[in-house]
Amino acid sequence: MAEQKATNVTWHESRVSADDRAELMGHKSALLWFTGLSGAGKSTVANVVDHLLHQKGFHTYVLDGDNIRMGLNKNLGFSPEDRTENIRRIGEVGKLFTDAGLLTMTAFISPYREDRDQVRALFGEGKFVEVYVKASLETCEQRDPKGLYKKARAGEIKGFTGIDAPYEEPENAELTLDSDGKDVDTLANEVVDYLEQNGYLKTA
Ligand code: ADX
Repeated sequence: MAEQKATNVTWHESRVSADDRAELMGHKSALLWFTGLSGAGKSTVANVVDHLLHQKGFHTYVLDGDNIRMGLNKNLGFSPEDRTENIRRIGEVGKLFTDAGLLTMTAFISPYREDRDQVRALFGEGKFVEVYVKASLETCEQRDPKGLYKKARAGEIKGFTGIDAPYEEPENAELTLDSDGKDVDTLANEVVDYLEQNGYLKTA
């Protein structure tokens, strides 16, 4: 748990309520937390969902692992402590985007169950949707879109998730996507269907 260093700070309530914002947006907001191995398809699926929803007139945004690590989190590496801090910050940023009324998606490996649960704890009922993009290590290694598994196997990257660093599977994800067996468009449509069936795409 991150230490609270700032003293003499008070929480300021917004005059615009979450319902007011949803009303203006025309839909509810939530954080869709995609988790899974590198190469499982988190970013790819999240970006297709983003596009599908955007085309239908919904307000969305994707916070993507590699992009955030080039900016906000450029001072963090891949030690367990740094990954925890990475996820903590993304959770807080995701909370802000969600409070602003967006259907927000994050695509981070987020290998530790406890880190993901800490983020979940920031959100009210139904506002955090854990989406496990499930692919076997074999599949991810075969895809190896960035050539990183090859480097990890050659010992050029230490502590690579799935090789010599752990990935803890979700135990109670709202949605599990079978990335071994289905294509990206099918998986993205499963996410959109989930949102539709659970009332996210309307205001009341
Ligand atoms: S997380 O573990 O902290 O959630 P994050 O999703 O931000 O990871 O970043 C993962 C991406 O960083 C991978 O897709 C890969 O491109 C890159 N990467 C570089 N080194 C590692 C490593 N040791 N383990 C996993 N991914 C790594």
